[in-house]
Amino acid sequence: MTDPAALRPAAGDASFFDAVEIVRRTRDGLELAGAELDWLVAAYTDGRVAEEQMAAWLMAVYFRGLSRAELARLTAAMVASGERLELSGLSRPTVDKHSTGGVGDKVSLVLAPLVASCGAAVPQLSGRGLGHTGGTLDKLEAIPGWRSNLTAEEIVDQLERVGCVICAAGPTLAPADRKLYALRDVTATVESIPLIAASIISKKVAEGTGSLVLDVKVGSGAFMRERERAEELARTMVSLGLDNGVRTVALLSPMDVPLGRRVGNALEVAEAVEVLSGGGPLDLVEVTLALAQEMLALAGIDADPSAALRDGSALATWRRLVHAQGGDPDAPLPRASYVETVAAPRSGVVERLDARAVGTCAWRLGAGRARKEDPVSAVAGVVCLAKPGEEVRAGEPLLELHAEDPSRLARARGALEGAVVVGDEPPPPTPAILGRIAGDR
Ligand code: URA
Repeated sequence: MTDPAALRPAAGDASFFDAVEIVRRTRDGLELAGAELDWLVAAYTDGRVAEEQMAAWLMAVYFRGLSRAELARLTAAMVASGERLELSGLSRPTVDKHSTGGVGDKVSLVLAPLVASCGAAVPQLSGRGLGHTGGTLDKLEAIPGWRSNLTAEEIVDQLERVGCVICAAGPTLAPADRKLYALRDVTATVESIPLIAASIISKKVAEGTGSLVLDVKVGSGAFMRERERAEELARTMVSLGLDNGVRTVALLSPMDVPLGRRVGNALEVAEAVEVLSGGGPLDLVEVTLALAQEMLALAGIDADPSAALRDGSALATWRRLVHAQGGDPDAPLPRASYVETVAAPRSGVVERLDARAVGTCAWRLGAGRARKEDPVSAVAGVVCLAKPGEEVRAGEPLLELHAEDPSRLARARGALEGAVVVGDEPPPPTPAILGRIAGDR
């Protein structure tokens, strides 16, 4: 524990605030001044505010929330804690997309080259997976040679040459978020809408994008299981993006069933390439095109993204992207040595295929990690051979489980208990997009 006396401001020193008083004010539902938030974030980032004081403040925010002005100022302070990418010199308009995460969500892999092939610059600074949802960087690293760590100069150069980049957000980008996120993770304060919004938007503002489309997932495999909470998160992030000068729109999309048919790193790259080649599963194509249309509209580009999938231009940009980041677009993707199937228990129609269970199964097979520093398997994952609404016969394979370590198969199978229901009634069709939230100004 830090000695609290060392953290108290010197009497009469106006450049310091009292962390204890700040915690007390938020705890009691009183609004903080902008300068207090600036100080709190800066002083926490450089170690003058103790972990336990920040933990108490985060819990106060969890219960009390923040006003719109407080949230905008907190986010601006998080951006100011590090460097900002300077993209204003690019010849193309910049637009990015952020997904709140789901199972089989490989949309970013298609979207960045697709929207770039229509004339925008897409700076996708992405993360890794944690828990049952996958991470874009883990997926791309299944491509032999792929490099996720780029310098700021490389990012700007590639955006100009190729039109898109998908790389890791470096440690100098919104470092306050890095520290705050780690603290939230161990203090049960992750699931706070203002804190999630500040975390996501601060990184997008720091990355320098002019426009942003948010894909807020709703359902069993998502962060937000209830529609109401997902809508509140979407509204909060849209206002916050606008308050920080980023044109922002959110789409709500379903995540009760895995997106597409493949879940796992190399498996998802292969499915993304199918979509870029003009094929792929319909649910994945629909959500990708809806997001692409929003991105192009925000960037002020009049183009038809479905034509770019059909005429090969999106695929050509994907090949340039892979090549620019050290990969070989023609190299075969790695494949699992062990593949087991799960058979249909009866004949009928698939009524349910639970996204969270499939995500957990893929994670246990080795596709995801339990701790940030764990390695992931490129080949592990699940292939959904039948999805809700499709007919199956008793004994036919429903799912394929892929692993490089066969000892993982039994425990992974356990995650699927009750996850697949085969019955007589096809479920009602689910729309690709559940709603759209744009700014109130
Ligand atoms: N993703 C983020 O980047 N931050 C959060 O707080 C939650 C999800």
